[in-house]
Amino acid sequence: MPLVNTKEMFEKAYKGGYAIGAFNVNNMEVVQAITEAAKACNSAVILQVSAGARKYAKQGYLVAMVKAAIADTNLPIVLHLDHGDSFELCKDCIDGGFTSVMIDYSGHPYEENIEVTRKVVAYAHDTTNHPYVTVEAELGTLGGVEDDVKVKAEDAMFTNPEQVIDFVTRTGVDSLAIAIGTSHGAYKFKPGVEPYLRFDILEEVSKKLPGFPIVLHGASSVNQEYVQIINENGGKMPDAIGVPENLLRKAATMAVCKINIDSDLRLAMTAGVRKVFNEHPDYFDPRQYLGEGRKNVKTLVEHKIRDVLGSVDSAK
Ligand code: G3H
Ligand code: 13P
Ligand code: ZN
Repeated sequence: MPLVNTKEMFEKAYKGGYAIGAFNVNNMEVVQAITEAAKACNSAVILQVSAGARKYAKQGYLVAMVKAAIADTNLPIVLHLDHGDSFELCKDCIDGGFTSVMIDYSGHPYEENIEVTRKVVAYAHDTTNHPYVTVEAELGTLGGVEDDVKVKAEDAMFTNPEQVIDFVTRTGVDSLAIAIGTSHGAYKFKPGVEPYLRFDILEEVSKKLPGFPIVLHGASSVNQEYVQIINENGGKMPDAIGVPENLLRKAATMAVCKINIDSDLRLAMTAGVRKVFNEHPDYFDPRQYLGEGRKNVKTLVEHKIRDVLGSVDSAK
């Protein structure tokens, strides 16, 4: 099976009332853990690569690993660029075999966001030199940390539902990421504050764009089990708090077709590695500690697919 884009995957997810997990990948162990978990659940899956991941692992290695995962699992897999910040980066990924890209111009003025997104869409949808590539864009600004960019909570902005019809029709994007209270990283809510998402905004957006796939970024739940293991084994992550899984479950049954998860994978991997190091100070074979991290990530992704995303059997 070749790499696929998100078109049919999202149509099925929207109708079926579930979401596809979009998991960030940087190395072989994480690619294997995610795709083995997806295989165990017979689930479609999106593997996404940030600019930072591309710099760390090199695009060619990541593309080859994702292709190897398809050969191993025979699942529908999308290779997606996460938070592309320029036309040139999106073009490079499309030319390199990605089947989906995100152009994130949400931090720029509205008209600039439209202009650059439209340019990426024109290139991605033109099938002269490559297959049809789907495009995700963003309206509204999430708080938190992406690579070197930190957005303070007070600078984050919810998506304005009054803009979505104009944005989608003028750009021709295939899916839209919206800001309804999620944020990037492991510190999403302050201790003592009840986490909430603006479901009213999601509902208004989906009324204005019936059948159109919505994306949630910053959707890690920061599973406390892993935070505790990290803290008990030499780590220091006080007050790490994520989006409660029941809120994400609800979003997945609505217009949200793609849920982005990265921080949870990092926590699962780090918990595994820290625990092994703490319990076995004599270990020095990377397979011993990376293997434990990989096991944790696989368990976590299976749990997400079954209990949060609801995408079991979506590979059919
Ligand atoms: O939203 C960003 C993702 O968590 C990727 O993080 O830019 O550090 O690779 P990164
Ligand atoms: P988290 O930091 O919540 O995992 O968000 C990841 C994300 O949105 C990647 O684009
Ligand atoms: Zn994101």
